[in-house]
Amino acid sequence: MKLNWSDVTPHRIYLDRRRFMAGSVAALAFAGQAQALTGRPSPLSTDEAPNSFEEITQYNNFYEFGTGKEDPARNAGALTIDPWAVEITGLVDRPGRYAVEDLAPENALEERIYRLRCVEAWSMVVPWIGVPLASVLNRAGLRPSAKYVEFETLLRPEEMPGQRRPILDWPYCEGLRIDEAMHPLTILATGLYGQPMPRQNGAPIRLVVPWKYGFKSIKSIVRINLREDQPLNTWQQMQPSEYGFYANVNPEVDHPRWSQATHRRIGAGLFAGREPTLMFNGYADQVASLYAGMDLRVNY
Ligand code: MTE
Repeated sequence: MKLNWSDVTPHRIYLDRRRFMAGSVAALAFAGQAQALTGRPSPLSTDEAPNSFEEITQYNNFYEFGTGKEDPARNAGALTIDPWAVEITGLVDRPGRYAVEDLAPENALEERIYRLRCVEAWSMVVPWIGVPLASVLNRAGLRPSAKYVEFETLLRPEEMPGQRRPILDWPYCEGLRIDEAMHPLTILATGLYGQPMPRQNGAPIRLVVPWKYGFKSIKSIVRINLREDQPLNTWQQMQPSEYGFYANVNPEVDHPRWSQATHRRIGAGLFAGREPTLMFNGYADQVASLYAGMDLRVNY
């Protein structure tokens, strides 16, 4: 089935949390307005309460649409996301241009409710819908020589006003080590809250790596390149003393300009106070072994 991405407009969704946790998302209430996307519930989801649809779609970082938190919601509406192709290149047996539906077919979609911790020390809980990145790389025929994967965001200054200014070195790029890319927590997300991905959140397809700072979770991907050497990610290139390649959430290694020991949960209210940040954003049981023996102060 072909999704009419361009028909979709964000709606505020009011959730019955129990129904939601059972995987039947309230998007059905909007049938006819927005195409529903259903993802199988996953044991990898947190049982923490998700942020509201409004919070998740009105408070964003997407510098291609401006640096203000409300700029993406205001400016992303004009982005053309249909047609869209993701080019898979480099060390794979089946390179080529793939449609989003090929990479994340409806029958493979899972719901992954994850904590998102931004390097700026705020956090949210987001009910993503997507597929493991490993499933995509396996189908592309990952070669043993591929040690890293590199991602690139769309370059389209006509529709992305932020790209008309040298805020970052466009296009936005990110990278992962292959074992990080193949980890079951790592997904390519095509929706949230039972709807196709809103443009301000990275439509039509984005990366989500929940144990790393949010800047690793690159939006609106047009290229996935498998390579032997470590790629340079945009933020590391911009400010290498502040942002590294790994960007694992780590309360013990501060940003040079602020503490990473605590964070603010968006929507928690004025008097909620800050929460302690957990090692690997609370996913240490699943991912700490990937970094055994590494000095995380050096590899930040
Ligand atoms: N991807 C692109 N292409 N451009 C960006 O500016 N910002 C990153 C990440 N992905 C960004 C991006 C940052 S800093 C964060 S915290 C998350 O997206 C925010 O995702 P959200 O807006 O869906 O919460």
